[in-house]
Amino acid sequence: MSMSYGDLRQHLRAYPKKWVITGVAGFIGSHLLEHLLGLDQTVVGLDNFSTEDRRNMNEVQTLVSDSQWSRFTFVEGDIRDMATCHQVCKEADVVLHHAALGSVPRSLENPVLTNDSNITGFLHMLVAARDAGVKRFIYAASSSTYGDHPGLPKVEDRIGRPLSPYAVTKYVNELYADVFDRAYGFKATGLRYFNVFGPRQNPLGAYAAVVPKWFSSMVNGEPVYINGDGETSRDFCYVDNVVQANLLAACSTDESAWGQVYNVAFAESTTLNQLFHLIREQVSRHRPGLQVPDPVYRDFRAGDVRYSLASIQKAQQSLGYAPEYSVRKGLEVSARWYLKD
Ligand SMILES: NC(=O)c1ccc[n+]([C@@H]2O[C@H](COP(=O)([O-])OP(=O)(O)OC[C@H]3O[C@@H](n4cnc5c(N)ncnc54)[C@H](O)[C@@H]3O)[C@@H](O)[C@H]2O)c1
Repeated sequence: MSMSYGDLRQHLRAYPKKWVITGVAGFIGSHLLEHLLGLDQTVVGLDNFSTEDRRNMNEVQTLVSDSQWSRFTFVEGDIRDMATCHQVCKEADVVLHHAALGSVPRSLENPVLTNDSNITGFLHMLVAARDAGVKRFIYAASSSTYGDHPGLPKVEDRIGRPLSPYAVTKYVNELYADVFDRAYGFKATGLRYFNVFGPRQNPLGAYAAVVPKWFSSMVNGEPVYINGDGETSRDFCYVDNVVQANLLAACSTDESAWGQVYNVAFAESTTLNQLFHLIREQVSRHRPGLQVPDPVYRDFRAGDVRYSLASIQKAQQSLGYAPEYSVRKGLEVSARWYLKD
């Protein structure tokens, strides 16, 4: 039986653990950090600042108490370096592995770089965690692993062929996790995230995700581009749901739930056209005087999946996952952050 999320948080406060978060300066990593420090946990964070700087961690510092912040140790380093991985895993109870180079287009432009961090770096962390006797290893997998499989909703054991180098790397993570279970009895749990969004997700740069990019474009009076006809759909998942899935997976006492792969999403389909209207609604509420023009449609983007929608039954049943934030509720919270003065 799995604990409810509320009970789990109480339990963690009473029996704190030592956690490692790789990619701690990133979007999702910084939310994991915020929640774990808020629960009085000890955290070692690793990041090489390849796609993020100190901003996210600095913001987390303002959101927790001084004594909570003092339980955080930051290591600036790279998961492509084995010694660094050994260093951070020492005496850790749990690893939440999130360091990776995201973005399908980035991987199409530089597949070797993506491979180095996402496959070699991942393998280093698996070996280091195994050697250190880490009890739970949770890693960020991806919905991109469904590739060209047409089935909807996506269920964990029915995948297609990858559509990008990024998708290959995330699938290889799952293969390595499986082999580490068979070969060494080391269980690593994969969370296949579906389009995560929320505060602190970077709106800047060529590889920015759609939600922050659109908030930023609308506020700055720049055109909002939709790749394709706008009927492409995604299962957008607010970041607090992702934090919940990590904590539940990390603390599950049900051995049959370990070493599995789970979809982590809200299980609701939103087209890009619908997303545009939802974000424009938030922008209009916060900036009543601002006229946001209609989107500009352009070509479909290479490597993109057309429709995506998750079944979250497996995570619900095995982990007790119960996402609390719908897309609309998540966008409301995000808007307060993206549109703050
Ligand atoms: N955001 C999403 O929608 C989404 C969806 C599916 C999977 N994921 C996965 O979740 C994880 C976190 O994603 P995110 O959105 O927070 O991305 P992010 O880019 O905000 O964070 C990733 C962090 O990893 C760090 N990093 C990259 N390569 C590194 C290396 N070699 N050594 C050390 N640190 C390194 C970066 O500097 C960055 O701070 C990634 O593994 C990503 O592939 C994210």
